[in-house]
Parts: sequence; C-alpha cells; structure tokens
Amino acid sequence: MRPNYRAGLQSATLLSVSRQPGYLQMQLKAGRSFSGFVPGQHLDLTVELDGVLITRTFSISSSLQQFLQNRTLQLTIKVQPHSGLTQQLLARAGESLPCYVSQARGDFELEQSQSALMLAAGSGITPVHSMLSSLSRLTRPITLIYSYRGAGNLLFADSWPQLRARFPLLTIVLRDTSTEGRLTDAEFIAALGALKVKEGQSVSAGPQGATKEPMLYLCGPLAFSQYWQQQAKVLGISQIRQESFGLSQQSHGEAVPVSVTQHGRTLQFHSQGNLLQSLEQAGLAPRYGCRRGICMQCLCTKTAGQVRNELTGHVSDAGAGLVQLCISTALTKLELQLDAVSTATQDNNPCTT
Ligand code: FES
Repeated sequence: MRPNYRAGLQSATLLSVSRQPGYLQMQLKAGRSFSGFVPGQHLDLTVELDGVLITRTFSISSSLQQFLQNRTLQLTIKVQPHSGLTQQLLARAGESLPCYVSQARGDFELEQSQSALMLAAGSGITPVHSMLSSLSRLTRPITLIYSYRGAGNLLFADSWPQLRARFPLLTIVLRDTSTEGRLTDAEFIAALGALKVKEGQSVSAGPQGATKEPMLYLCGPLAFSQYWQQQAKVLGISQIRQESFGLSQQSHGEAVPVSVTQHGRTLQFHSQGNLLQSLEQAGLAPRYGCRRGICMQCLCTKTAGQVRNELTGHVSDAGAGLVQLCISTALTKLELQLDAVSTATQDNNPCTT
C-alpha cells in the first residue's frame, strides 16, 4: 500500500520548512523517478493540504552537487499574502505534508564557455544561486548584480562570501535598492565594460580561446527584465537569456469595466493592469498556480471583450475564448466566467518564460 501514491505525480519527502523575512526555504528529498535538473531550471511542486492538491511552479535554488550527494533540493519561495500555499506551509512547518514534484524544465542555463553579466532582482536570484553554487570551476569572468529591497530580503547571505572566495573570476555586487536605489544605465554600462576588460585579461592569461561577447542573464520581475532587455538591445547585446517572475505592476491604459460571474453571482468592478491581481483586489479568489503563464491553472472563460497577453503582446479578439488571468490585461469592457472553462479556442496563448 502506498497511501501517498498519485497517478502521474512523483512523490518527494518534505524534510523541512524554515523562514526568513518574506521568504521560506523548503528542503525536499526527491523520489527515485526524479531524473535530476540543470541549474537554473524550475519544477512544479504539488502539496496535499487537507485532501486538496495545490500546485505551484518554483525555481530550484540549491546546487546540483547537493542533489547528487543526497537527492535533496531546496526551493526558496516568496511568501505571498494571497497564497494559501505559502501561508499554510508556514503554519504547518513541522508536519510531514505529502509533496510531489514534476521533472525539472526550462532553458535558463549557464553557458560556461562565455563571460556573463547577470542581473537578478528579488526572487529572481533563486535560479542564479543554483547556477553559481553548482560551479566546480570558472574559466570565464562572471559579474552578478543582485538587487534586493532591504537587508531582510537579501537571500543566500552566507553563500556570497564563499562564492567570492572560491572563484576569483566571479564578481558579486549586492545592491540594496532601499538605500542605494536601482541600478542605473551608467552603472550597467560600466559593469559591462569592466567585464569585457576582465574577459580580455583572462583569455590572454590562459589557453581558453578567443574572446566572445558576454551573455546577459536577466532574472527578476517582468518589468525589470523587459527594461534591461531593451537597454541591452540599444547597446547591441544580442545574447540574452531571461526568466521572469510575476508581472509588471504598471497599468498599460485606462481602467476598464469587468464583469465576473462565479457560482451564479456577478460582480462588477474596474480593472487596470493585470487581471489576476485586479480580481484579487476586488475580493475574489480565482484559482492560480505559478502566476507566470506556465501552469494554466488560472485559465478561465472570457465571454466578451479583448485582453492583451502581457508576455507576448498578443491582443485577443472580442469574442469568447480562454484567457490566462495571470498574464492578461483587460483592454476593453470584459466579461469573465470564473467557474466554467469552456473548450473554446484559447485567446491568450500560453507562454513559457
Ligand atoms: S497561474 Fe500559472 S498560468 Fe496563470
């Protein structure tokens, strides 16, 4: 008898849940069927809470070596005020809750034959930490600029001095935006210039081959990644890898009227910006998972109105269709049906980060 068996899910053992302000750290032991990961990848975590399976997508924050030694993984999760999962995990930290993980996926991986400028912000540091702490040697320079807001939100504080000591070619800049402000364009250009100089020196000092353009890695909130992607293009940087977390808080237009029907009741309100956030602010509790356009748990039926996919920029037509709330913005008067997903054509194509 395997009481925790669930068809299609791979069980994992929850070893511990610990807390630091704003975040929680989960240590999991993966089952035999989990086939490993490439540092930088993410997976779906499913937790059974009182008979309900809740799935969310998280990046793995621990090193590959840790996994190879004892098959354990660490997930570093931002505590969301509206997330039942993170609140419940905190409240039930000592319990052995049934957990399951998907296979790891994603192509946010470190190209070790090239120098790299890495810009990470907030939770975006989690896959970057996995990449850097998995390094066994470094032959090309890497510069990481990690922005966080307030000392309490600095993640992996113990790791950074150790990584600096292990890898002379690794430059780590920890930037507390609450005291130092956001990274400026001039600072970005200066960091890129310094990296190129270091790359030239490292190549002339060893047999590593010709210099290549640095790869730019972006990992953070969508607005952060979009901004630096644009700046990079202006500077002629073409090699960019990015992973985005959450969505832009910025509204792209006027507030538009939204009518939502759930369990036979209709609620009307005005939405500006992200639809999932607007529904939550209106007091509704729509289903969601990753909040990044991956898991499709927030899919709901649009009966009328146009939405824009915030990841692709695709604008739907005004007829019926399916939309992913977490990556959609209402552009016109909108009608949504929250509790019935139809099989109509999906208007808002899913997009992976
Ligand atoms: S919450 Fe995962 S796709 Fe929207």
